[in-house]
Amino acid sequence: MNFRIAPSLLSADFARLGDEVKDVIAAGADIIHFDVMDNHYVPNLTIGPLVCEAIRPHTTAPIDVHLMVKPVDALAAMFAKAGADIITFHPEGSEHIDRTLGLIRDAGCKAGLVFNPATSLSYLDHVMDKVDMILIMSVNPGFGGQSFIPEALNKIRAARTRIDEYTAKTGREIWLEVDGGVKVDNIRAIAEAGADTFVAGSAIYGQPDYKAVIDAMRAELSQ
Ligand code: DX5
Ligand code: ZN
Repeated sequence: MNFRIAPSLLSADFARLGDEVKDVIAAGADIIHFDVMDNHYVPNLTIGPLVCEAIRPHTTAPIDVHLMVKPVDALAAMFAKAGADIITFHPEGSEHIDRTLGLIRDAGCKAGLVFNPATSLSYLDHVMDKVDMILIMSVNPGFGGQSFIPEALNKIRAARTRIDEYTAKTGREIWLEVDGGVKVDNIRAIAEAGADTFVAGSAIYGQPDYKAVIDAMRAELSQ
């Protein structure tokens, strides 16, 4: 399994974002996770396409934009223009999920659906062909630094089963990302449940030595 570590900028120093991006990639991270909150779909407000455009020249690593917004379509198009590589959204935020997935891919990005702790995976039933990533939330979206909800492990297993069945039929890979409360001490159990991509905000940016945390995560993943 090819594991990817995706630090969430939500816990970075927003006054030094360019350096924070470079530093985590130099420390061994694979992807930059970019949390977009709109004070409507979730009760918090973060960063938009202008900030994505501003950090784009600071790294060649993929920028993984997690849209916690409603509605989705106009912002998704703006993030594609701003240099996003992956754009995920919550099905509750879009009136027409199939259309939104299509417009993200037509704009040249990978598209993904995000599942809150209480959201059913059945949203995937008719759109697997348009999904490049499935993101399982292991906290309720809106804030960094929350505790991992253990029931998410069952959801990850169920998503892994769907992906493996789909890949066996089509040969096409779909990434399985987990977001919320991911730490050195639970990353192995999350990987064993079937995740391949790990978002970690406070666990990485909350520590002074990013490389030490990322190395410790990789050590857990290689056991
Ligand atoms: C929560 C965000 C997460 C958050 C994760 O709504 O989507 O990406 O930054 O933060 P930690 O790793 O601190 O739970
Ligand atoms: Zn996120």
